[in-house]
Amino acid sequence: MPRRRHRAGLLAVAACALVAGGCGRDQSVLHPESEPAREIATLFWWMLGISAVVIGGALVLLLLGWLRREQPGIPLLGGAERLTTGVVIVFGIVIPLTVNVGVFVVANFVVAQATDAPNPRTTPLTVAVVGHQWFWEVRYPGTSGAVTANELHIPAGTRVNVVATSDDVIHSFWVPQLNRKIDMIPGRTNRVLLESDHVGRYRGQCAEFCGLQHAHMRFSVTVEPPARFRAWLAEQARDRMPPRNAGARLGEGVFLDAGCASCHTIRGTTGRGEIGPDLTHVGSRDTLAALTIPNTPPELASWIRDPQHIKPGNRMPALALTGAQRAALVAYLEGLR
Ligand code: CUA
Repeated sequence: MPRRRHRAGLLAVAACALVAGGCGRDQSVLHPESEPAREIATLFWWMLGISAVVIGGALVLLLLGWLRREQPGIPLLGGAERLTTGVVIVFGIVIPLTVNVGVFVVANFVVAQATDAPNPRTTPLTVAVVGHQWFWEVRYPGTSGAVTANELHIPAGTRVNVVATSDDVIHSFWVPQLNRKIDMIPGRTNRVLLESDHVGRYRGQCAEFCGLQHAHMRFSVTVEPPARFRAWLAEQARDRMPPRNAGARLGEGVFLDAGCASCHTIRGTTGRGEIGPDLTHVGSRDTLAALTIPNTPPELASWIRDPQHIKPGNRMPALALTGAQRAALVAYLEGLR
């Protein structure tokens, strides 16, 4: 029995360590990949170190107090009371005050400045992100007009101004390896800086409980060389590729007539729904349903057949499609690159 309890304790410690570490390198604040995230991680390590020293000191004093506790019949030695007052002043007032004021100053005047959103007038790129139950709408305003979902791209070495809001409840936009989180509040816009010199893909996660599928509200940020980013953005800004064969025409017909278009937009068609993600270039994405499943024809087909099975509570209904209609729709959507 004790051994089983011991093992349960070890498992609990391992689980806590995983949670603290963000459950993986690509979503861990302890593996920063940008200057703002490095500032946050450094502050965290300093705070951890100082807290360890402070709690260590408190434990030593407790132990000393216990070892030198007053024994019945043996009075405390002369001068001990004066020493005790000094210890209380130093460890109870001076040190906590210095540490707390120091952390406050560093956090507010150094780290907060380094992680603040850039000036929207001077930053070369603004990305608008809207939180929905449960996906991320991503818009690149300005001349491009590109719209995508769940998979942001940004150019390396560029300070990107992310403007965040929500369409329904409060969400929170957080890419742990790149910067702090920012709340997405209905009717209000908040801004956060995203930037990194390191080409790569980083995971983001909604960090505010927002309903049944909060845990499955993930996204990714791909940091890529500026030239590749510009090519990607130009692709995403285009209307959909017109159907080039009978199968694709059939698929587009299903999309427009069977009900999909009342919730989804495909630019270049009459489908202008605004409830679900924009699907103009859905075939170019690696994942579906906010990084819940990979974007492959079998996964897309099972998502369309029964979305509630994969993500219970989401707003997408199962449509009454024949097998042939569904196959045509899947082929058409996967072709939208
Ligand atoms: Cu959106 Cu949690």
